[in-house]
Amino acid sequence: MAVEPLVYELSKAGRRGVRFPAPDVPETPLPAELMRERLDWPEVSEIDVIRHYTRLSQKNHAIDINIYPLGSCTMKYNPKINEAVARLPGFAGIHPEQDPGTVQGALELMWELQTMLAEIAGFAEAGLQPAAGAHGELTGVLIMRAYHRERGDLGRTKILVPDSAHGTNPATAVMAGFEVVTIPSDARGNSDLEKLRGLVGPDTAGLMITNPNTLGLWDEHIQEIVDLVHEAGGLVYNDGANLNAILGIARPGDLKVDIMHFNLHKTFSTPHGGGGPGSGPVGVRADLAPYLPGPRVRRVDEGESGRYEWFQPEKSVGRVHSFHGNFGMFVRAYTYIRMHGAEGLRQVSEDAVLNANYLLANLKDRYDVAFDRTCMHEFVLSASRQKAQGARALDIAKRLLDFGVHPPTVYFPLVVPEALMIEPTETESKESLDFFIAAMRQIADEVEQNPELVTTAPHRTEFKRLDEVGANRKLNLRWRPVAAPEPAGVAAD
Ligand SMILES: Cc1ncc(COP(=O)(O)O)c(C=O)c1O
Repeated sequence: MAVEPLVYELSKAGRRGVRFPAPDVPETPLPAELMRERLDWPEVSEIDVIRHYTRLSQKNHAIDINIYPLGSCTMKYNPKINEAVARLPGFAGIHPEQDPGTVQGALELMWELQTMLAEIAGFAEAGLQPAAGAHGELTGVLIMRAYHRERGDLGRTKILVPDSAHGTNPATAVMAGFEVVTIPSDARGNSDLEKLRGLVGPDTAGLMITNPNTLGLWDEHIQEIVDLVHEAGGLVYNDGANLNAILGIARPGDLKVDIMHFNLHKTFSTPHGGGGPGSGPVGVRADLAPYLPGPRVRRVDEGESGRYEWFQPEKSVGRVHSFHGNFGMFVRAYTYIRMHGAEGLRQVSEDAVLNANYLLANLKDRYDVAFDRTCMHEFVLSASRQKAQGARALDIAKRLLDFGVHPPTVYFPLVVPEALMIEPTETESKESLDFFIAAMRQIADEVEQNPELVTTAPHRTEFKRLDEVGANRKLNLRWRPVAAPEPAGVAAD
């Protein structure tokens, strides 16, 4: 008998994973509007379910398996204590509509988190609502817009964005109704100060700058840049996605930056991407705090202790998230900050920068370096040399999968040809860094000796090269039983 491969569709009519005890209260029918004619749930046993998800997880790479040096997207190890704390019933079992008097602990955590974030980055206040870095950017630029409008300064229609910026920066500026003006990079990977002088003016609403930038470099003229934009009447937005390089070392607020978002998943170890909902709090200088999204939490001092309550900032740009943001992420980030303390956070950044420079120093003889400077928490190699030998950055990324390593970010930032953007993070041991170096060096050898081995990679993964564009364009994230026709009124995926 031929052995059939295990299938995705496991449902068998009548099979059960759970049996509920008979109710000990009278049964009450659900409201009719909540009922559906049919509910095509899979009928499976517990072991079917466990095996199904375990098998799926084995087909994928995860931060809990091996190094995940995804530059800019920072796959930081998610400490398990974060999960334990987030699952405490007092956090996991509450509802955002509850009377504030019954959820004082949750409100206190939010207040403490926003206070700690503001202090860490040198801002007067921080608001927690936005759900991701890009969402924080939009919130920040809406604040910028509201600030100029309120002053009647309506001619400020342009936002300056360096050419090394993450794509979300110009996209955000356009979504908020601004025109984007690109600042080129100079020969050292900074924003070109001279070009900026020529571009900034009375029509400048602000500048969105990432510092350290997406080349992994600290902008050597950051203070002059901030001053230049301020002198022209604009505001400076710092994309704080790379804050994990400077914790306890430099504070954007001290550089007179006006607004910044934090990526809790990049800096404060909350899960990223498919791993969970995000969070992108926004820090602001004091006079911009009234524009933050509301409601926000505030503390009302009562003698030794305090009480926490919701309030609506007077000039708020409005709500940007249902309820109060992704609370589970606040608990995780709070736990991470508390576990490390001020000294520990500084060490996080020192180790992240050290690890990145260790990789750079051990790879730069085999790969071209975009800008040969001491890097911050990440750096960008170029596979131009390998391209001339027959294998591109994408091929190198695919070959890394054969070593059980997640590839770095490729083809970003756009200013570097054949870019390989590498960020090890602080949590990798010297052994795991050495393993990555050895893999990258071996791949460089392979490209020289047998490029086909690399261009046809991966060889050891269950799936080979996927249609990544197709997967993006025709997203299908919803499981539906094979035989079941689409119920009327439900849009196709
Ligand atoms: C520099 C930079 N800005 C913005 C973002 C967007 O953040 P998010 O993915 O949380 O929307 C990222 C992504 O990680 C980034 O690296």
